Amino acid sequence: MKVIPIRATPVATAEFPPAPAAGLPLADTRGRNVRDLRISVTDRCNFRCVYCMPREIFDKDYPFLPRTQLLSFEEILRVARLFVARGVRKIRITGGEPLLRKDIERLVEMLATLDCVELTLTTNGVLLPKLAARLRAAGLHRVTVSLDALDDATFRRMNDADYPVERVLEGIAAAQAAGFDAIKVNMVVKRGTNDQDIEAMARHFRGSGHILRFIEFMDVGSSNGWKMDEVLPSREVVARIDRLFPLEAIDPNYEGEVAERWRYKDGAGEIGVISSVTQAFCGTCTRIRLSTEGKLYTCLFAQQGHDLRSLLREGADDTRIDAAIAHVWQRRDDHYSEIRTAATVKARKIEMSYIGG
Ligand code: GTP
Ligand code: 5AD
Ligand code: SF4
Ligand code: SF4
Repeated sequence: MKVIPIRATPVATAEFPPAPAAGLPLADTRGRNVRDLRISVTDRCNFRCVYCMPREIFDKDYPFLPRTQLLSFEEILRVARLFVARGVRKIRITGGEPLLRKDIERLVEMLATLDCVELTLTTNGVLLPKLAARLRAAGLHRVTVSLDALDDATFRRMNDADYPVERVLEGIAAAQAAGFDAIKVNMVVKRGTNDQDIEAMARHFRGSGHILRFIEFMDVGSSNGWKMDEVLPSREVVARIDRLFPLEAIDPNYEGEVAERWRYKDGAGEIGVISSVTQAFCGTCTRIRLSTEGKLYTCLFAQQGHDLRSLLREGADDTRIDAAIAHVWQRRDDHYSEIRTAATVKARKIEMSYIGG
């Protein structure tokens, strides 16, 4: 089946009610503040993970964005600075695969100049041997690496681009050598595809200092053929690991943390589980996403984005752009994971490779 990607329809941004005074935090209709900005810097990837960019759809005819449509680093920095003034404290650079974006370390260097911001990046890891040291030197604080299996055949099936596990392990090692600590490793669990690797992954990363997190397979986008049967609830993941290596729950690092944390009772470190299907965490969702082409999305499952790029390119001043941001956030009511039904699953949603994980 050929699926035409949905991208944002521009939302009229001509008239805005007055925003709260500049510098004051913004609250949405559910009282949530904006704290976490995720910036997608490319919609391309060298992997074709089955749950994210299935090869039948993301093939050579897929209409990836042309270069002129991408926000420039200067445009990204300008938007990010305005968000920081409104309370954002963490910025995550994502994609697609963000390390494919040319000169990505220059963007890191620019974003690292923003005050009080934790700067992080999510990657599939294969370009880390080349880039980790440069990213660290540019001011990146943390990296999260995706790795869905330790068994090579399973991993190749998951990434569907024939990348061996070894390449990602080398990437993780390069990140460690570059001085990033507490590297997080994300494993999306698809029942019947890679769940047999849960224990091996736990065994491998125990005692490494890296934090392995298991993510429930989500119905994000419209192309990954999601079925509830393929979701392995996090509680089962915890039970399976606990049988081998006893675990105990620990407190979140911060309010609204997406992962639920568990530590090995023998002191070999911690794991996390992200249960957006079986235990939604929308109530504390403080995240906003800036797409590759400059649209704002207030939910991972959004069907509609809000165009900032035209404002940026029309020459709007900071006050106008700040008002647009305020307008979008203050009207936000998203809580998709709390209201997921068979009908919402089928709705046409934005692809994660475009909006950023
Ligand atoms: P840190 O705690 O700073 O490491 O980050 P994080 O856990 O917020 O970030 P990360 O991007 O690593 O999130 C891991 C995964 O959780 C993502 O790839 C998504 O699969 C899922 N996730 C993150 N944010 C959301 C969200 O807002 N909604 C839903 N439904 N899933 C999310
Ligand atoms: N379900 C859960 N997580 C997903 N990701 C992408 N697609 C999905 C999905 N369908 C997340 C994974 C991956 C990151 C880049 O995006 O966490 O590691
Ligand atoms: Fe690429 Fe990450 Fe999507 Fe896999 S999950 S296809 S690595 S963007
Ligand atoms: Fe936030 Fe939407 Fe995810 Fe809920 S489903 S946690 S509102 S991004």
